[in-house]
This record gives sequence, structure tokens and C-alpha cells, in this order.
Amino acid sequence: MRIDLEELKSKIKPKLRPIIWRDEDNTLLLLDQRKLPFEEVYVELRDPVSTADAIKQMIIRGAPAIGITAAYGMVLAIAHGNIPTLDEALNELVKARDVLNTARPTAHNLFWATERMLNVARNAVHNGSAKNVKELLNIMKMEAKAIFDEEFDAELMMGIYGLEKINDGDTVLTQCNAGGLATGTGIGTATAPVRVAHALGIKVSVIAPETRPWLQGARLTVYELMVDGIPVTLITDTAVGYVMYRGMVNSVMVGADRILRYGHVYNKIGTFKEAVIAHELGIPFYAIAPSSTFDLKSRVEDVKIEERDPDEVRKIRGVLIAPENVPVFNPVFDVTPPKYVTALITEKGIIYPPFDKNIPKVLSVT
Ligand code: MRU
Repeated sequence: MRIDLEELKSKIKPKLRPIIWRDEDNTLLLLDQRKLPFEEVYVELRDPVSTADAIKQMIIRGAPAIGITAAYGMVLAIAHGNIPTLDEALNELVKARDVLNTARPTAHNLFWATERMLNVARNAVHNGSAKNVKELLNIMKMEAKAIFDEEFDAELMMGIYGLEKINDGDTVLTQCNAGGLATGTGIGTATAPVRVAHALGIKVSVIAPETRPWLQGARLTVYELMVDGIPVTLITDTAVGYVMYRGMVNSVMVGADRILRYGHVYNKIGTFKEAVIAHELGIPFYAIAPSSTFDLKSRVEDVKIEERDPDEVRKIRGVLIAPENVPVFNPVFDVTPPKYVTALITEKGIIYPPFDKNIPKVLSVT
């Protein structure tokens, strides 16, 4: 089926807006994902330190959304206060990059976005296109918007490529929330093929595991798909194997926080388990991510898997469900080795094994 990107844009109009830039007063507004699905409240940010904190606290989360937020965090570094010289502005940007990069360790998009913003600023100063801080600020705003717009188009392209993997009547199992809330655009990565299929009248439904401990599946994936009228069923994390064994799942589609050269996929804890079961049962497993999620330099041993507060496990929404002092191990991502990955779906095309040869080829990078 030939699908035109512009035509698709007219058909897919997501209702949620997780990231808003308010230009009149240079303020970043984030839909507070800690409060969803019960309250839609925006948090207003005006400096990089509180932007980094918002990422840490998971007011915003999901790899591409973290990247876009960090890009605006860089804008905020020079948007307020009177920074007199371009040299001082560059210093502020380096400080902002350093603070934002400590917010969370696993999603590659964060480091990719802050580096891209800093490089653009340095180039603008060195080649004279920014003659003062006001001009530099405008260039930074345009770059952050470009990151957002590119992400939006990339997700539609992932949806178009991913459509090849969806048949009428299919059910897709996902993990966590790799939807529009996780990317900031309202579309998503793992959910992009589903959204495109739905927009074209192809019947497709989603099974969302609740994704303990933060419950991204129960609170966010289910919510955003219901808002957009896409059929979704919530299951417990422990039901994953059973639903696949019962033949209720045609494919697994997940997002990614980072993908390495040999095809290792870092994603929300529980993804590896889905991949192994899918492999055992002959169900295809796809990781769907934009090229900003690919890290072709790091090795498995270089990537830090974030471990979060033990109370996220001991409690559910503030209510203790285990002895108060029980020791807890709370890694929030896992890594799926390439042998379990059927294909990677990107905005530049579908990548099949061997990944070390085909990732550079499809993404046109070395
Ligand atoms: O801890 P989170 O909620 O930031 O984890 C999010 C995920 O694991 C997503 O699947 C991933 O970032 C891809 S988002 C399109």
C-alpha cells in the first residue's frame, strides 16, 4: 500500500500534547505524567536545572520525549536573565548540557539532543550567524523545534514502514508506554504502526502489560490509546507468557531507549522476557525507534541500566504493599540480545539481521 506522508498527517491528529513550548514568555510546559490518567496538569519550566529535575522525577519520560525536553532545557539556559556575551552564553550551554545529561542514564536521545544543541550553538557563534545572544536564542529555539518536528515525521515514517508487519485483525503486544506520551508528539514509536493502521481503517488492537513498578502500561498506554479510540486490553505483567501461548498475540512491538551496533535493544524492564517468549513461540518481535535512539559507539558493558528508588517497588501510588524495610532491587530497563530481535523499524526503513552490517547501511552512518 502506497502511503503519502502529507496525506497521513491530515488523517492522524493526536489529541494529547505532552510537550508545549510557549514562545511569548520562553516557558516549557510538560504534561505531568505522574498524575495521569487521573489529572491532566502541566508543569511550567524556565531553567535547565528544573528541566533536568522534571526528567529525573519522570514528569516527562520515554526516550524521544526526554530528548525533546532536554533540547528545550538547553534553550532555557540562555532564555532568561541577562547574558551579556556569546562566550558567556556558550558557558551556560555547557553547564546546561552537563546538568541535563545527569538526569537519567539509559535513554540515548538525551545525550544526542544536548550534544546536537550545543554543536549548533557553537557553529552559530563561530560562523557568525549569531551576532548576539538574542540571535543565538532564536537559533536554539529553531533547533529545538526542528528536533520535535523531525521526531513527528520520523514516527509517521516508522508507522508507514511498520504497517508492512500488521495484518487486518492483528493484536500487538507492547511493553511500557512507547506511545505519544513517551515521544512528546502524541504518536509514539511502538504505537506508530498501530496508529497508522487504525487511521487507514485496518483493524488492529493492542495488549498492554501494566509494567510494574511505574505502571506506564496501565496508566499511560491504555489511557492514550483509549483517548484516540484504538482498541486496547490491559493485562498484568505476569500474564504475558500466557496470552502469547494462547495465540492472542500476532506480533510484539516495543520502543527502545538505546540500540547498539550489534542490535542489542535497551528498553523498559520486562521487554527481554517478552522477546524470549516470542522467540520460543515463533511470534515476531520488533523494536521501533528513530535513529536518535541508536548508539553505534557504546558496547553493552558501557551502558548504564538505571536503578530507581526501592519505594517504587515497595509501594503502589504511595501505599505500602510489602514490608517497609524489605531489600529491593529495582532496575528499570533491560537489554534484549540481537538473536531475539526479528527486525528494527526506523524512520529510514526496516533493518533485519545481521544488524552490525545493516544498521549503518539503512541509517547511512558509520
Ligand atoms: O522509564 P521510562 O518510562 O522513561 O521508560 C520508557 C521506555 O522504556 C520506552 O519504551 C522507551 O523510552 C521508548 S519511548 C518511545
